[in-house]
Amino acid sequence: MVLNIPILLGTTRPNNKSSLVARYVNSITTEIDGVETFIVDPKEFNFPLDGKDEQVKDPRYTKITAQADAFFVVTPEYNHSFPGTLKRMLDSELKNYIHKPVAVAGVSSGIFGGARVIEQLAPVFRELGLVYTFSDVHFPEVDKLFNKKGNFIGDEQLYRKLINTAFEELVWMAKVLKYGRESLENRYH
Ligand SMILES: Cc1cc2nc3c(=O)[nH]c(=O)nc-3n(C[C@H](O)[C@H](O)[C@H](O)COP(=O)(O)O)c2cc1C
Repeated sequence: MVLNIPILLGTTRPNNKSSLVARYVNSITTEIDGVETFIVDPKEFNFPLDGKDEQVKDPRYTKITAQADAFFVVTPEYNHSFPGTLKRMLDSELKNYIHKPVAVAGVSSGIFGGARVIEQLAPVFRELGLVYTFSDVHFPEVDKLFNKKGNFIGDEQLYRKLINTAFEELVWMAKVLKYGRESLENRYH
């Protein structure tokens, strides 16, 4: 069984550092057996207006969320919360998230590594029917973690371990919930 896990990038800010983090995470998670990860960059999708009616959805995002077994979000913290772009993208679907797990990597230029955005996302995920894991990854002082070419120059051993631990939990949850969705009767699937 190969688990399909999109990495949702949370921002479209020009030259944002979170996309370097997403790329770094993806380079590690593609090595994990039984997992297929890929980056979903919101700037490549079309969400001009609010809501989840057919005319404001992006069908490509609908397909990605329908096929996903779990989600990994890489997001910066903006004013102690999540970027509007991430919320807009998440808001465009509902039933495709129900009873699927999600984990988060927070990114910041300061020392907290997106701790506040990670907390702020909990009520949003809960309302979407997602199951939030407890193994977060923090990328504090992100400017020091990548060189000018965008290559990771932080503590490779540490971050590899943090990402693998987060995915270990996410994969376990994904398997449990996939079994539940496919085998146990429920009004949503
Ligand atoms: C609109 C805006 C708000 C921000 N608010 C915060 C914040 O609340 N906490 C924080 O640690 N960094 C904050 N930052 C700085 C980000 O941590 C910094 O830009 C970092 O590189 C991650 O964001 P990026 O992916 O957009 O580069 C903010 C940046 C922007 C553009």
